[in-house]
Amino acid sequence: MIGIGRALPGRCVTNDDLSKIVDTNDAWISERTGIRRRYYCAEGESANSLIIAAAREAIGNAHIQPEKIDCVIVATVSGDYVTPSVACLLQAALGIRENIPVMDINAACAGFLYGTAAASGMLQVCGGRYALVVGGEQLSRLMDMTDRSTCVLFGDGAGAAVYERDDTTNLCVDLGSRGGLDIQIQGAGSPEPSVIQMNGNAVFRFAVGVIPSSLNAVLEKANLTMEDIDWVVCHQANARIIDHCAKKMGAPEKFYKNIDRYGNTSAASIPLALYDMYREGLLKDGQKVLAVGFGGGLTWAGALLNIHLGVTE
Ligand code: UT7
Repeated sequence: MIGIGRALPGRCVTNDDLSKIVDTNDAWISERTGIRRRYYCAEGESANSLIIAAAREAIGNAHIQPEKIDCVIVATVSGDYVTPSVACLLQAALGIRENIPVMDINAACAGFLYGTAAASGMLQVCGGRYALVVGGEQLSRLMDMTDRSTCVLFGDGAGAAVYERDDTTNLCVDLGSRGGLDIQIQGAGSPEPSVIQMNGNAVFRFAVGVIPSSLNAVLEKANLTMEDIDWVVCHQANARIIDHCAKKMGAPEKFYKNIDRYGNTSAASIPLALYDMYREGLLKDGQKVLAVGFGGGLTWAGALLNIHLGVTE
């Protein structure tokens, strides 16, 4: 990873703000989830505009020109159009070359790491050196604001990374899915409204099982132990899920959390966490980050990321 960027929308919504429109309170949300605030798109903002802004910053941060990008993957479930993909519109907006692979993928909250794996494969099959991978969502437009068990959890945002191909090492990943409807957004043509519906307890149980098993699978493939790892970044869905897994993996100090600031931003949450770590001076050149995403599908994705970001400006 040689460049990183992010974009947050303009409307900050605190737990107290939500308690004015739904039967909830700051104590319940912060104690059960760790969330204190999240951002919603304001007038004129959307998943696409956030994704394009995050990508622009990541390319600038990588100190390359957009014409150098050889592959564009966007992970999202909330792009502005069903077609064209966000990736195609991003390509045009940033002046990225035409004759390269460009597509969106839907792997929900595991999408950024699924996208990272897909980009690695694309660079090998199609050739090329630099891949742009973005995770971004506008979940605020998919929320049932009368369902307090889900509407307090999610937020909008986008995070982007530029990767440079490294022929000396293989990307180590652990990808999977367990088909099921425990998190769903119904599509056009369905009698149900297109809002996020979630069986929170079932997903919680799935998450605390799959996070350690996926992290261990990546470590095994990379022939590493937790001692070789500098940071662990989990999809930010619930601070209690992360704390439970941190304890189970035996190195709680390596698990980063920023869910208090953004809520659950699905495909954006892992790059948003990496971005904050970078800005806080925690992420340093040469470090190894073990990352894991999980969510709708039910999908999961673990990956080992090698960090080669420059010094924070
Ligand atoms: O990104 C995709 C991955 N998603 C996840 O990983 C989500 C995983 N699941 C979770 O994080 C948790 O299951 C939730 C945060 C969704 C729910 O937390 P919980 O501790 O499992 O609560 P619960 O659903 O068992 O509900 C406990 C109580 C219920 O009241 P009663 O029946 O005990 O009287 C709920 O009605 O809390 C009530 N409740 C609320 N109260 C105030 C549910 N939502 C709220 C709320 N405010 N927003």
